[in-house]
Amino acid sequence: MDTFDFEELRTRREKSQITNMYFEILACKNQQLQRHYTGAELSLNLAERQKHAFNMVQIHYLTEVTVPSARKRVVESYDIGPNNDDLYPNIWPPENTLPGFQAFMENFFDIMNIFKDALLGLLEDHYEVSKGRFSALHNMAQNELRLLHYPDIKTELLKDTKKAVRFGQHTDFGTITILFQAPAGGLYFRSMNGNWNEILSSKTDAIITFGDTFERWTNGRVHAGVHCVQAPSQAQDQTGERYAIAYFGKANRNQSVGVLPEFANKLESPKYEDMTAEEYNQYRMLSLY
Ligand SMILES: [Fe+2]
Repeated sequence: MDTFDFEELRTRREKSQITNMYFEILACKNQQLQRHYTGAELSLNLAERQKHAFNMVQIHYLTEVTVPSARKRVVESYDIGPNNDDLYPNIWPPENTLPGFQAFMENFFDIMNIFKDALLGLLEDHYEVSKGRFSALHNMAQNELRLLHYPDIKTELLKDTKKAVRFGQHTDFGTITILFQAPAGGLYFRSMNGNWNEILSSKTDAIITFGDTFERWTNGRVHAGVHCVQAPSQAQDQTGERYAIAYFGKANRNQSVGVLPEFANKLESPKYEDMTAEEYNQYRMLSLY
């Protein structure tokens, strides 16, 4: 896929009736889809959407927009990429709107990148690949930091996925995800036997998940974690708001997400085809959104 097809996205979105969500690209070149900021109606023009993207950070602008017959996707998010990313530059709120936010987040992004590399080092040892092998495939730090806010909502709506969904069943696209969540509940992972288990943690616990890229690199030896965000098991009539921060480790955009030689099975063909991490990202975004 050379460029992102906005028309196809629009068609898919209309078919899926997720009409109260916008998935906007405020920072893009060559119509490639990357940074996204959710939380406003599709009908808003670009200037309005930018305003809302900043409002989301400032005052937790909510996504509760009434659209008849549409399923509500009740989540809003704000994405941050590497500093000085020429392809998808970050969009920051004005400094006087949220003093210190940009500097804090840029520093946090870098700290998380160091943490991610430390985790990759452990995986290099575990899978007996050469030291620095996995981290070298990420050395452009083209990761994503996502701030997530799920507004409070009536629990009966969340329990009917035709009416509302916080985040449906999916796998992450990248290599490893580091997730922090406020202790509101509602995050579920599917185990190998198919059961869904709620993951409860304190806000300082890091939840580490494998993503698709790692599954592909290892020819399926590692399974990407299937997860979703729905009503907490302990929810009363009203499900309270939920906050989470996800740091998505991403391979360098020009790096293949095909099977790495170390994991290729010489007796069978690779389970996953070669494509760049950037192509894979675009492909998955289209299928998910
Ligand atoms: Fe996820």
